[in-house]
Amino acid sequence: MANKVRVRICVGTSCFVMGAAQIQSLEFNAPSDIADYIEIIEERCMNLCKEVKTKYNSGPFVWVNDELVEEATYEKVVNKIREEIKKSC
Ligand code: FES
Repeated sequence: MANKVRVRICVGTSCFVMGAAQIQSLEFNAPSDIADYIEIIEERCMNLCKEVKTKYNSGPFVWVNDELVEEATYEKVVNKIREEIKKSC
């Protein structure tokens, strides 16, 4: 596999209090089948939480490559990463 799956986790205040902290643990404690295939990037507020009409309260937000995961949980992000790894195989 040439490129790693890029995982951009919003760690802005809103996303952090809504659960991003648990997702951050992927950086040091990812399941062994994906650990070598991911690049974790933590970002400040991506401003998605400020798009009141469509996004308010839909955090935490995580980008997995080009796909946005809303109401992200550790499990949802891991599943999306596995899908991305399969796509590139
Ligand atoms: S705090 Fe995550 S998008 Fe604003």
